[in-house]
Amino acid sequence: MVLVALALRISPCWFLIGFLLLGIVYWNAFRTRVPLYLTGREVVMELLERLPEGSFEFADLGFGLGGLLAMLAKEKPQGKFFGVEVAPLPFLIGKARCMSLPNCRMEWGSYEKIDLSGFDFVYAFLSPVPMPGLFEKAKREMKPGSVFVSNSFGVPGTEADETVIVGGNALYFWRM
Ligand SMILES: C[S@@+](CC[C@H](N)C(=O)[O-])C[C@H]1O[C@@H](n2cnc3c(N)ncnc32)[C@H](O)[C@@H]1O
Repeated sequence: MVLVALALRISPCWFLIGFLLLGIVYWNAFRTRVPLYLTGREVVMELLERLPEGSFEFADLGFGLGGLLAMLAKEKPQGKFFGVEVAPLPFLIGKARCMSLPNCRMEWGSYEKIDLSGFDFVYAFLSPVPMPGLFEKAKREMKPGSVFVSNSFGVPGTEADETVIVGGNALYFWRM
């Protein structure tokens, strides 16, 4: 690859631009151990079916490009949707997507600083690494009767109240 790149005489600026682009997408991935991948349509449909007809508050911890929140907020205008994202470029893309949705609010930063006590549903699609700590936080802060949902990643030593397979992914539900 190095020899090919040298032979093609590509300006080093392009490599710098590529590096910076990856940096603003995968910002903090070394620390958080969570890469960017997106919730599939089948999971969005499953969540839509489970969300109530009345008012509720929903949080997506690490909203990626904001697709899940935008779809849910459009379909459930009576719900209030909140997202937090630590990576700068995904944050800006998600924010732009949700700007026209009055029931959707997004913040830049870490979910570690978000108080989960006001939410009826908290959704996470992260990686195995943060799950034990996040689950402890959810147990400490979420109100009785609220629901914590994890896409694909369980909590070692803790059985979910319900597990469903949707679009090839396991969705774990815990009632707090
Ligand atoms: C697998 S993606 C899921 C994206 C989105 N929730 C979805 O389901 O389509 C995980 C996202 O969480 C973000 N993330 C990881 N750790 C975070 C943290 N501590 N606080 C906020 N966002 C975080 C990553 O930057 C990444 O965009």
